[in-house]
Amino acid sequence: MSCIAVCSIKGGVGKTSAAVNLAALAAQEGRTLLVDLDPQGSATYALAVGERIPGGASSVALEGPGGDGAAVRTATENLDVVPADFSLRRIDTELADVRRPRRRLRRTIESLGEGYDYVFLDCAPGIALSIEGVLRAADLILVPVEPAALPMRSMDQLGAYLAGDRRLQSTPMVAFLSKVDRRRGSHRRLADELLLERDDIIGAIPYAVEVEEMPMRREPLVAISPRSRGARAYAELWEAVSARLSG
Ligand SMILES: Nc1ncnc2c1ncn2[C@@H]1O[C@H](COP(=O)(O)OP(=O)(O)OP(=O)(O)O)[C@@H](O)[C@H]1O
Ligand SMILES: [Mg+2]
Repeated sequence: MSCIAVCSIKGGVGKTSAAVNLAALAAQEGRTLLVDLDPQGSATYALAVGERIPGGASSVALEGPGGDGAAVRTATENLDVVPADFSLRRIDTELADVRRPRRRLRRTIESLGEGYDYVFLDCAPGIALSIEGVLRAADLILVPVEPAALPMRSMDQLGAYLAGDRRLQSTPMVAFLSKVDRRRGSHRRLADELLLERDDIIGAIPYAVEVEEMPMRREPLVAISPRSRGARAYAELWEAVSARLSG
């Protein structure tokens, strides 16, 4: 099983869009699970899954999936999701009372992922205690970053944090450029420069209306418009991610 965490300190940068589309592409190759870890429940919504979770999503995160499991099927073949709900907003205060909270979360993710070939973790923005725990289950940490100075700085802050954590420093972190608007000179120049110079930046997703509209259509873009520019960019990104997983 390969576990990919999509994570960034910054919000609204394209984590959920990437998690949903890359998971749908992975599902063409093997059994795939997307774990929605954000109280906003955006991935849950984008995949048109209801969020009625017995006991609430935070109890799943803390206690594990329980007898019947926590995963729900989606309309995409081979793709299941562990939905999120608003109870996840409490996860960090709840974890404060747990012994070895990060280890607890790592174990939850591992048990959720049993039987799957690929597991995607759609993290909430930030770098809270719960996210640190979740990242421990990852084989690869994937960070969307917009081609501009402050987003790049935020990504480097995350990299420095990971490098300083004994249990995370051996997990590779790679980034992709997100919402790249080539009509903007600054985006174009910085994107070209970064793709050339940094081997930890492994792809680029253009700013595209079809990506923006995906949550309205409530199915992965790569399933409904596989030939669109956005979907083709996700397919290329998935190839680059797969190469990192096997390399
Ligand atoms: N490549 C893109 N082109 C156009 N719009 C995009 C693109 N990627 C994401 N968006 C839009 O930007 C918004 C934020 O995207 P998304 O939800 O994927 O980000 P996020 O990092 O998961 O956000 P959050 O931090 O709130 O979880 C959404 O409205 C989404 O549709
Ligand atoms: Mg999100």
